[in-house]
Amino acid sequence: MIIKTLVENTSLTPEFENRHGLSFYLETGNHKILFDLGQDELFLKNAEKMNVDIKKVDTVILSHGHYDHGGGLKIFLQQNHQAKVYIRENAFEPHFSHSPAGYKENGLDASLKNESQLVFTGDIEKIDEDLLLFSNVIPEELFSHANQNLYREQGQEKIPDDFSHEQNLIICEGEKRILIAGCSHAGILNIKRTAENILGKNITHIIAGFHLYNPSLKKSESDSFIHAMGKRLEKENVMCYTCHCTGEYAYQLLCEDLHEKIGYLATGSSLVI
Ligand SMILES: [Fe+2]
Ligand SMILES: [Fe+2]
Repeated sequence: MIIKTLVENTSLTPEFENRHGLSFYLETGNHKILFDLGQDELFLKNAEKMNVDIKKVDTVILSHGHYDHGGGLKIFLQQNHQAKVYIRENAFEPHFSHSPAGYKENGLDASLKNESQLVFTGDIEKIDEDLLLFSNVIPEELFSHANQNLYREQGQEKIPDDFSHEQNLIICEGEKRILIAGCSHAGILNIKRTAENILGKNITHIIAGFHLYNPSLKKSESDSFIHAMGKRLEKENVMCYTCHCTGEYAYQLLCEDLHEKIGYLATGSSLVI
């Protein structure tokens, strides 16, 4: 599988513009996939530079209803009229982040909800033999404290987000079982365990933001939290690639635990696994 990072918070070289958000191009034997679309048109600009033809994409997965992952949807639909776009229906509900400055909308453009290319996904959605989506992960351990700054709307009231709009992708290719998540709001260890319960087999690779940085408060999780996650991942036989909401500080700490079992996917990077 080829993984090209079209949008991420940092950049591999000055040739590629970077931005807070996420968009991966994933090419398997059977599919050309976009996993998330970043917050605007940047995925398109960087796709051109990386020889990715957006018109040939057959599958889009939007991981959750935050603007930095699905803000590029309108532009994608203008460029590509054949791909199916898999999304949780409630991803289009209003979402907010909260900081000392107050509430700020951080959801998707709800006017796109009736676009014909959209497919609203169930709790477990098997697309075909290679691709499976799942949601409603129970956050049992080591999930982000930054979730406490994130809200959804119920009637007129803002209530803490339960992240039922978050979905994760498993790609099975030969002996590889690759788990891909956007922000891992439910916690990457919980998401991995749920994936393994569904498959009845272990995950071999993780590609995900781990949500260890809180952009509202501009603060990382504590060192002990980050190392607890690193030590758990180190014990499990899994190769991790991370970026985006993991944050560069947490990534450095995770490297101390995971050594060669972790890599960073900056904008402009290409990887074959
Ligand atoms: Fe998010
Ligand atoms: Fe994010």
